[in-house]
Order: sequence, then C-alpha cells, then structure tokens
Amino acid sequence: MTERCELLITNVHAATMDPSLPGAYGAVEDAAVAVTGGRIVWLGPRTELPDTTPDEVVDGEGQWLTPGLVDCHTHLVYGGHRASEYARRLGGESYEEVARAGGGILSTVRATRAASAEQLYRAAEPRLRALMAEGVTTVEIKSGYGLDLDTELKQLRTARRLAQHHPVSITTTCLAAHALPPEYDGRVDEYIDLVCEEILPAVSKEQLADAVDMFCESIAFSVDQCRRVIDCAHKLDLPIKVHAEQLSSSGATAMAAAAGALSADHIEYITEMDVAAMAESGTVAVLLPGAFYTLRETRVPPVDRLRAAGVPMALSTDLNPGSCPIASLRLMMNMGCNLFGFTPAEALAGVTRAAARALGLCCSRGVLRAGLRADMVLWPMDTPDQLAYEVGALKPARIFLAGRTVG
Ligand code: NIG
Ligand code: FE
Repeated sequence: MTERCELLITNVHAATMDPSLPGAYGAVEDAAVAVTGGRIVWLGPRTELPDTTPDEVVDGEGQWLTPGLVDCHTHLVYGGHRASEYARRLGGESYEEVARAGGGILSTVRATRAASAEQLYRAAEPRLRALMAEGVTTVEIKSGYGLDLDTELKQLRTARRLAQHHPVSITTTCLAAHALPPEYDGRVDEYIDLVCEEILPAVSKEQLADAVDMFCESIAFSVDQCRRVIDCAHKLDLPIKVHAEQLSSSGATAMAAAAGALSADHIEYITEMDVAAMAESGTVAVLLPGAFYTLRETRVPPVDRLRAAGVPMALSTDLNPGSCPIASLRLMMNMGCNLFGFTPAEALAGVTRAAARALGLCCSRGVLRAGLRADMVLWPMDTPDQLAYEVGALKPARIFLAGRTVG
C-alpha cells in the first residue's frame, strides 16, 4: 500500500466473504480497510496495518462491514401492476392459467408499451430506491415487457437512465424472449427471427445490454427456440442467462450450462444431471425464493445437491409485477434460509459473491479484498447472522459505492 490513502475504516469487523479466508464469512475481526481510487487497497487485522496517512478516517464503532449487496435478477422497469391478478391467483387460478388467458406477462406488456419513458422511469425509481436503502450497490435490470423493438429499447434506456441519476451500479439484460407478443400469435419462430435479426442487434449497437436472457418454459419458448437466441447472443458477444425450469422440467438448465451461461435462474425442477452440468460449466444457480413464495410453489430447488456439487448459489428478488412484487433483497436472504434451507452465511454469499459472479462481475465486486471495488456496507449488528435473521429494523449504518459514502 502507498503511504497515503483516501479513506481508512478502523474499529470494524469485516465479513469479507472471501473464500480464501477461514470461516463461512471470511471474517476479519478488529480490521482496518484502506481505500484509494474507488478500490480497496488494504484489508487486514488493524494491528498489522502499515503506516498510512488517510485523507479521511471512518470509525466503524465496532460494527460489521460487508460487501455491497448485489441484486442479480430484477425486472424493475415496468408499467402498471397486477394486483387484480394476485387476487385471482389467491382465489385459485394458477400463474399458467392467468398467463394463458392473456394476463400475466402480457398484461404488463400492454401497460409498458402504453407508458411513456418518463412514466416508466418514475415508476421504477421507488423500487430501485427501496433496494438501495437496504445496502444494494449493484442491481441487474431486465427488459422483457416490451416484446417489440421500440419498447424493449425504451425499457433498457430507462434502466441506463436510472444508473445515471442514482448512486448505484446497474447492469442491463435484454429479455426480449420473455413471452410471445399477441401480434405474433401462432408464429413463434417468426418472433424469434425478430428477436435475433432486429431486437438484439439494435440493442447491441446501442450498447444497451450487458447480457441476454430468455424464458425457457412451456408457456414461453422451447429449448430449440432458446438455442437460436443463444447463438445470436454469442455472435454479438453477449453473455447469457436463462429463466430455466421454474414451472416444469424442460432441459433448459442443461442447455444453459452447455452454452456457458453465467446463470440458470429459478431451477426448481432441475435434475441431478443438471446439477452436475452446472458444476462443470461454472454456471451460477440463481434462486428466487420470493417468486416461489408469491406463486405458492411447492417444489423447492435442490439446494443440498447444488451445495454438495459446489455450484455457486445466488439469491435475488426477481422484482417484477407478477411473480415477485417484493423490493427487498434482505427478505430474500431470510426466505432463502427459511424456505430453501440456506445457512445465514450462504444467504450473504448469495447476495454478494455468488450474485456478482452471476453477472460476470466476480473480478470486481462481491467480496472485500484488496484490488476489488470498495462497494461496502456498514451494519450495526453483533454478528453477520443477523442479516438473514432480522428483516425490517436492521438498516445499513453507512453505504459506500466505490469508496464514496452514498447512504
Ligand atoms: O422471473 N418467469 C418469468 N419471468 C418472471 C415473471 C414475470 C412476470 O410474471 O411478469 C419471473 O418470475
Ligand atoms: Fe425473472
């Protein structure tokens, strides 16, 4: 470390989430953290801190410092809401039945097409702010409620504009293959042509997406149709993610793993072979307990098998108007433990280290380590187990984005 540093945090315990350090949290108690140029330049026991002259010192007051949280799967830019559909589902209709009757995703497509860019922005802001207030410093936002060129671009531009005006890092994903728009009824392959020949090339030309996603499911697109989208993404040099095996077993996860996908998301219905394929390819399992909870699903993803195979497991909100209108990543940590059998330490890894990897960002964030971005949250707690255990009252004491205090 150089003699001068911009920020020094002392009197703090660090839950680094660094897997090369001992313990589930990679904890360094009574630590010091030095930051310069937006990056951590030194982290270790305070007693070993080299001589340094900091521009600013923050007294951590014996609190815990974690990596900034990463919400790696959201659909938070959308028009309208689906409260009446929620009531219908509580009355006994299934998610598939609502979707097949023209509601579900298509109802949000109608509202998103009708909304102006300004309306979409204003509707998305409070959702984003709710996540940021919980210590989320990186958020992925998908399109997928446009399903035509102009509206997909409108959604993605809105996500980029949110990033310009909020102290948070936003990655964007084009999910044009989310559902079949009504104007393509009976012409699924022609819609995939539109996605591959017009939407994705235009999105890529304007550099509006950092990844490409697709919904591989009986109510959406088949494995073969998704393969075409993957080929197109590969040609455009964009990494892929797949909504896979949420409602049924389809081969989507094996396809995703074989294609080197960053992540396969939902995956309640995966098989033993899929788990092995994910372990082999390094594809992250993004588990979405809020969607499982909201849709009152009963099939739990095979967390024990994923853990045994060493597949990294992320947790995310899936924030969207249908399957999870819940803007709380902290609640997802709690649900990950209560509903899916995560340990509190796995839940924190799921919203930091594994989530960063699901976005292809594990070289820059998700762990507290010298060289990585200084996205960090200071929490007034006695043990990091409290992050999964307590929801609502335990708030960040301070949030740093690239070393700058933003909350
Ligand atoms: O991740 N599964 C597909 N897409 C979203 C839900 C979208 C919606 O219902 O509006 C999901 O659950
Ligand atoms: Fe989703």
